[in-house]
Amino acid sequence: MDTRTLGASNAVGPSISIRIAVVEPDSATRTRLAMQLGETVGAFPSTEALVSQLNGSPVIAVLGPSCARSPGFGGAEEHLLPRPEIGAILISDELTTELFQRAIRAGVRDVLAAPVETAQLGEAVRRVAESLETVARGVASAAAAEAAEGEQGHVITVFSTKGGAGKSVVAVNLAVSLALRSDRPVVIVDCDLQFGDVTVMLKMAPPHTIVDAVQAVDRLDPNLLNALLATHQPTGLRVLPAPLEPAYADQISAAAVSKIIGMLRNTSAYIVVDTPSYFDDKVISLIEESDDIVLVAGMDIPNIKNVKIGLQTMQLLDTPMSKIHLILNRSNSKVKLDIGEVERTLGVKAEAFIPSDIVVPQSVNKGNPVVLDAPKTGVAKALEQLADTFAPQRTKKR
Ligand SMILES: Nc1ncnc2c1ncn2[C@@H]1O[C@H](COP(=O)(O)OP(=O)(O)O)[C@@H](O)[C@H]1O
Ligand SMILES: [Mg+2]
Repeated sequence: MDTRTLGASNAVGPSISIRIAVVEPDSATRTRLAMQLGETVGAFPSTEALVSQLNGSPVIAVLGPSCARSPGFGGAEEHLLPRPEIGAILISDELTTELFQRAIRAGVRDVLAAPVETAQLGEAVRRVAESLETVARGVASAAAAEAAEGEQGHVITVFSTKGGAGKSVVAVNLAVSLALRSDRPVVIVDCDLQFGDVTVMLKMAPPHTIVDAVQAVDRLDPNLLNALLATHQPTGLRVLPAPLEPAYADQISAAAVSKIIGMLRNTSAYIVVDTPSYFDDKVISLIEESDDIVLVAGMDIPNIKNVKIGLQTMQLLDTPMSKIHLILNRSNSKVKLDIGEVERTLGVKAEAFIPSDIVVPQSVNKGNPVVLDAPKTGVAKALEQLADTFAPQRTKKR
């Protein structure tokens, strides 16, 4: 088998050598897949043929549609997938939730629909290569994982009773900033189930959404949930997107959202949750279960009025005031609202002041959060300061 070196985009140090192998009994399909992957790929008619050539070094196995159709994925489930040095991608003519779950459970890293586009296949290969490199380098060392075990992730819900207050901007930037600071995973969950725009703000188009997690909720385990998260490549932030269609929102129960967040707590350092601008049973349970609530208020009278009602509702829910962090967005606006007056009206001291700046909509339109896009601006600095409240030290070297 030929060797090809794959470099992970944000890898540290030299790339290790990772081989790519196509496993597909049908010769025409095998050849087509091999051509899509480039000249240096190895092509095998069966799992056994590949297994006989393994020598312990990492291999990305691209399992063709014939494997997807046969029991045990053409022998891969038994002979290939249990090996830690193998990262498998399954290509299937029919992409059902049942097949997806079965494949991920068996240890497949990604499942793609046939016919697969070359760019999509390349992207999947790159992602798997990255995770194999991580394992090979021992970055995710067993010791670190053990030390972190039992350490529950911190859930931060970003909320406002007013649409357009800046919740998503705050949630996305906070999450990105925490992801750059933490050695353990940081996840953003888009719980604005009708109009979620987290993926737009991160310029991502992931294949899965919270709907997939909810549909599998009875059988959900950390591996399956992890496979449904997408990675924001520039920062490593993990993302669970909102549904693509607003109609799905009704099918998602508060209990399902709680279970997903609870499971993420076991595997992540921080879970940042973006929300809609109203209270419903899902938002109420998020508020109850979160460690912290970032309450975003804009600097105009309707905003302050609605935030006041929001605060009163949270008090009725017995939310400890110590959990609530008031953030004043567009706080430099020339709108003749005095910050002291706003704080007195709300009965809470603001913990962060985010100025109004054209770089915010500009960065939103670019799909690059302002803390990355314009880090020297006052807005970015204010958002970084907000992140300081939760993760004061930069633990990750960049
Ligand atoms: N500090 C700010 N300065 C300038 N524009 C902002 C600021 N915060 C938010 N915006 C703009 O306001 C719009 C609404 O923000 P968004 O975060 O989507 O609100 P929400 O999620 O609360 O509905 C966005 O398009 C964003 O560009
Ligand atoms: Mg929003």
